[in-house]
Amino acid sequence: MGPHLTGVTGLDVLFVGLGLYVCMYCYVNLRKGKCHSKKSLQGKTIIVTGANTGIGFETALGLAERRGRVILACRNPDKAEAARDKIVQLTGNSNVVCRQVDISVMSSIRKFVNVIKKEEERVDILINNAGVVTLEKIFTEEGLELTFATNHFGPFLLTNLLLDLIKKSSGRIVNIGSAASVIGKVDCDNLRAEKHFSQFQYHNSKTATLLFTKELARREPDVLVSCVHPGTVRTDVFRHMPTPVKFLVSTVFRMLTKSPAEGAQPVLFCALEDSVEPGGYYMDCRLYDHSLWVPKSAYDEGLAKKLWESTERILTDCG
Ligand SMILES: NC(=O)c1ccc[n+]([C@@H]2O[C@H](COP(=O)([O-])OP(=O)(O)OC[C@H]3O[C@@H](n4cnc5c(N)ncnc54)[C@H](OP(=O)(O)O)[C@@H]3O)[C@@H](O)[C@H]2O)c1
Repeated sequence: MGPHLTGVTGLDVLFVGLGLYVCMYCYVNLRKGKCHSKKSLQGKTIIVTGANTGIGFETALGLAERRGRVILACRNPDKAEAARDKIVQLTGNSNVVCRQVDISVMSSIRKFVNVIKKEEERVDILINNAGVVTLEKIFTEEGLELTFATNHFGPFLLTNLLLDLIKKSSGRIVNIGSAASVIGKVDCDNLRAEKHFSQFQYHNSKTATLLFTKELARREPDVLVSCVHPGTVRTDVFRHMPTPVKFLVSTVFRMLTKSPAEGAQPVLFCALEDSVEPGGYYMDCRLYDHSLWVPKSAYDEGLAKKLWESTERILTDCG
């Protein structure tokens, strides 16, 4: 049917498209949210994983501005040092240190925790930020699939090994999830991708992050644990995505995305604000639990318990 018969012209489509774009732009920008907390972190110790770039860097910067001792837990020492220099220069806070850890390698996490336990008397806040998006099936030397190793097993092990220290100071844990988890699924018999590898592995791993957050909150009432979706943020996280996706994010959809500093706001909110709820899922500095963005499985306590136990079993196998 031609344009004359339907009465719809190309110009109409363009106007509707533009209208939708403007609406989405207003929605994203009005809802962004900012962490207004002026809380001083003097005397507090904070660990941020993957702090050398992106959301992790901006989070570490925000915490250093509030005078905390900030440990940049990164896998690449040169990138970590460069980030440290920049943070010290921008904040004047020299109490920022780098410690090496590869979050996808469980033996590296164990070494890192040994160093922390030797050097630090307290850990007040742990930000599990490091994460990857991979579309390829890659296994680590320890036999874990890379996306789950980085986004689920690593944060799980790190958190559990640091739990005593964090509990001592009634601390907080902030897990970085993703709205991608809304279509994620967790199969506890396939956590090592032994049955199949899904192109939605990232989504699945972030559903695991949500389940882990909820179960940890149930098990550890003395620690304030929450999960954050930072928004769609212009960082290197898209580096392994197909070129058309990277192109769209950096051009057409650029105005609908957040800067890394904006993406760090909900993370800082969960690290600092008094109103944060145990086990809560936050976006745009607001509680988003039971919204359309949360998969129903996030509230499946049986699944969360099974995930916890399966994860523990696999980590025991890893040595
Ligand atoms: N950007 C978004 O739109 C978005 C949306 C939802 C959720 N997130 C989540 O936000 C978090 C931060 O991502 P980002 O957007 O800031 O991405 P990014 O710029 O790619 O930063 C990721 C950070 O994680 C580190 N990392 C990756 N694998 C690691 C490993 N095995 N060991 C130690 N560090 C590792 C990276 O270190 P290297 O520099 O050495 O690679 C980097 O510092 C991730 O958990 C991501 O899933 C991001």
